[in-house]
Amino acid sequence: MSPAETVSSACVHLDTYFNPSGDERIGRFQLILRNLGEEALEGFSLCYTCVAYARADVNVKGGELVERFGGFHEIQLAASSVLPALGSVELELEGLKEPPRHFQDGPKSAFLKLANGEIQPVSVGDLNLVGGEDSQERRVLPTGELTVPNAILPWPKTVAITEQGDSPITLSPAANTSAEDIASMAKVSKLAHRLFPQERMPFVLLPASTPSQVVFVKEAGHGREGYRLDFADGKVSLSFSDQAGRDYGLTVLAQMLMGCAREPRTYKFPVSGYIQDAPRYEWRGSHLDVSRHFWTKSQVLRFIDILAWSRMNVLQWHLTDDEAWRLEIKAYPELTEIGSVRRPEGPLIPQLGYGAVEYCGHYTQEEVREVVAHAASLNIDVVPEIDVPGHATAVLKALPHLKDPDEPENSYQSVQGYPNNALNPAMEETYAFLEKVFEEVAELFPSRFVHVGGDEVNVQSWQQSPLAKEMMSQQGLNGTMRLQAYFMRRVKDILAKLDKDLAGWDEVAHGGGVNNEGTLLFAWQKPEVIAQLAEAGYDVIATPGQAYYMDMVQASGWNEPGASWAGVSTPEACYKYEADSALPEALKDKLKGVQAGIWCEHISTQSMFNYVVFPRLYAVAEAGWSLPENKKWERFCASTSVMPQL
Ligand code: ACM
Repeated sequence: MSPAETVSSACVHLDTYFNPSGDERIGRFQLILRNLGEEALEGFSLCYTCVAYARADVNVKGGELVERFGGFHEIQLAASSVLPALGSVELELEGLKEPPRHFQDGPKSAFLKLANGEIQPVSVGDLNLVGGEDSQERRVLPTGELTVPNAILPWPKTVAITEQGDSPITLSPAANTSAEDIASMAKVSKLAHRLFPQERMPFVLLPASTPSQVVFVKEAGHGREGYRLDFADGKVSLSFSDQAGRDYGLTVLAQMLMGCAREPRTYKFPVSGYIQDAPRYEWRGSHLDVSRHFWTKSQVLRFIDILAWSRMNVLQWHLTDDEAWRLEIKAYPELTEIGSVRRPEGPLIPQLGYGAVEYCGHYTQEEVREVVAHAASLNIDVVPEIDVPGHATAVLKALPHLKDPDEPENSYQSVQGYPNNALNPAMEETYAFLEKVFEEVAELFPSRFVHVGGDEVNVQSWQQSPLAKEMMSQQGLNGTMRLQAYFMRRVKDILAKLDKDLAGWDEVAHGGGVNNEGTLLFAWQKPEVIAQLAEAGYDVIATPGQAYYMDMVQASGWNEPGASWAGVSTPEACYKYEADSALPEALKDKLKGVQAGIWCEHISTQSMFNYVVFPRLYAVAEAGWSLPENKKWERFCASTSVMPQL
């Protein structure tokens, strides 16, 4: 539940207990509604949102499940049920989609619907485990140990410092530094200041009369994004071949200065020697889900700053999902007017917290331009994700004409429990819609790729849509995945006309896939998929949930926050994971990089974001930048304390 609701004046409270002592596959919740007020309540239903949703064959004691949509549940209490003043009533649900494993797997928000239609907020406690096995394990972050006393993360290719010394407070440009180099210095100085406003800005822009000077040398030979720092005679020479290389060299200098300022007993600044550096992979990304929980423009801007500080260069902005559409599209204002708002009276109903109150948010096109420009100035490409054909509940609520009118309701469900949530490949309206959306998207985002999702379409999708059935028989498309591939090929054509390439989740390769020329696929389901996609000829980004999904728990104990469908991703396992090891030598060049996944079903607050994302995001940053032989767990642990958080 949102902290706002935790402190609300709700006078009814919901406690939930999970008792796994029965059949593991069934899963049982005991829900206790406690009336903290002086007035008895009767004739109401309990609504709650919960990722561990009730199966169709759920057995409810004490009430009747009258609605279940995604994680939203409404249980009508028996007419005779009274919630007495200062008393409680108890319900039991037997038959959960999967057994909960951690304290956040229970209801996240709740409210009562009274007989007169009034909505009454309910505060919600964490899920309690009764009698089950609990490893008690919590995340462990060793203090770590530095072998070289410089605050740099990710670690450069070569660090050959021959003498370390006290840090200068600031650095200045040498006399005659070009305006362009000074502008780059100003930019990195402001970046450092936004991230660490309590510290002095690392660079003073006035050409120096002091010894702590930076001499800029633009020359060929450092490669894309590469740079070299030479330290001698109180000066730093920064050589680079492109803008990103110059910015990264300055960022590394700023990191070292900030490290010394923040932990002066630990860190030093080089007196002599050199650092020579270039990235391991061209794609060093993080995904950010803003659909389940909305992150404000300023939070997104700060997140981009954090990516830049760790020399990451892609933000995959997951703008749409079942739970909300967050991007203004001028051709379809309904997408945000309807599709970005969850409230008890719908059309989109509460999910994942925020029960009784309206929960909304979207980015205007002007805001998107600002975010994209900010990212570009920091060498970060913003790749928009419009998740289709599945994960489209918000679209279909906003634009119901996109449904096959003769498809029976609830003829299939997504893994998250949403009925009929995929755009229909057999309807021309679908492509007309996507053409308009992608036209605006292409205009807003200069990135080469548009990420079009393609994940988690239920294999029964469209099987009862008369339009889809007709198309399947006419075109000889045998089954849902063939139909999906047909859809994806049409989407690829739409993007090609807009001069964009298609990026998508690994299921884009299913059912025959799409032309792998210019297609980039993200291996998320398991590490083995990396090699499968590469063998099929696709360029691949490694983002396996088991290692790189930041919402996965960091330890197995009940009291560890996060999801666990892909298992436990300890910071150490995340750090030590090597995507490249999944590939035979001949296919290694198909792996274009690595990416963190930040899915926000459970990540609804800044504190939770910081707890689960850090330091694992920096582990991914280092996997993307540093050579495997330079990855050192102890050094990484020691240096994360001076890295920023949201
Ligand atoms: C995904 O995690 N559904 C891509």
